[in-house]
Amino acid sequence: MGQVTVMDHPLIQHKLTIIRQTTTGTKDFREVVSEIAMLMAYEVTRDMPLEDVVIETPLVKSVQKQLSGKKVAIIPILRAGLGMVDGFLAMLPAAKVGHVGLYRDEETFEPHEYFVKLPADIAERQLFVVDPMLATGGSAVAAIEALVRRGAKSDNIKFICLVAAPEGVKVLKDTYPEVEIITAALDERLNEQGYILPGLGDAGDRLFGTK
Ligand code: PRP
Ligand code: URA
Repeated sequence: MGQVTVMDHPLIQHKLTIIRQTTTGTKDFREVVSEIAMLMAYEVTRDMPLEDVVIETPLVKSVQKQLSGKKVAIIPILRAGLGMVDGFLAMLPAAKVGHVGLYRDEETFEPHEYFVKLPADIAERQLFVVDPMLATGGSAVAAIEALVRRGAKSDNIKFICLVAAPEGVKVLKDTYPEVEIITAALDERLNEQGYILPGLGDAGDRLFGTK
C-alpha cells in the first residue's frame, strides 16, 4: 500500500512559506521551487539500493558502495512540474526526463492530455512524477494512466508534489494505492474553484508569470 509522506524538514517548510506568499514574484518563486525540489529529491532517494564495488584509492584496494537497481526517470506534469525538474536533476544528473502535458478544465477540473513524450525504456525505470500541486487528483491520476498505458509499472512510480489537498490524496490513493505520495505540505481543503487552501495559488501561472 502506497503511503503519504509529508516532508517536514525545516528548510523545506521555510521555503514553502516563501512561495505561498503573494508578495513572492516569479523569479523568487521559480528559484525557491527549484530549491525545494532539490531537497525533496535528496529525501525521496533515501531508499535507493546500493551494491558493493571494489575500487582502488591512491593507497589501497577497497570495497565501497555505489547505486544499484533501476535507472531513474523524472516525469514533470506540464507546465508546473517543469519547475521541479532542475532541482531533481541536480541530485540525479544522469536521470532521463519524460514529459506529460495536461491542463485542467477551469470549470469541470477534468484534466486534458495534450503531449506525452517518454524515455523508450520507461518500463524498466524508477519514475518520479513531479507536479507542485495535487488538488482534485485528476491530473496526477491522468498522468499515471498515461505512463501505465505506455508500459510503465505503477509500483515503480513515486508522486512528488509541494502542496497536496486531502481530496487529491484520497483520489490518488484510491486509484493507485501502490504509488507512494510525497508532499511538502498537506493543506486543509479545496475551494469551490478547485484551488488548494491555503495553497499557493496557480503554480503554473506563478512559475511562468502568465497571470
Ligand atoms: C495545475 C497543477 C496540476 C493540476 C492539479 O496544472 O500543476 O497539474 O493543476 O490539479 P488537479 O489535482 O485538480 O488535477 P494546470 O492544469 O493549472 O496546468 P498548468 O500547470 O499548465 O498551469
Ligand atoms: N492547480 C494549481 O496550480 N493550484 C491549485 O491550488 C490547484 C490546482
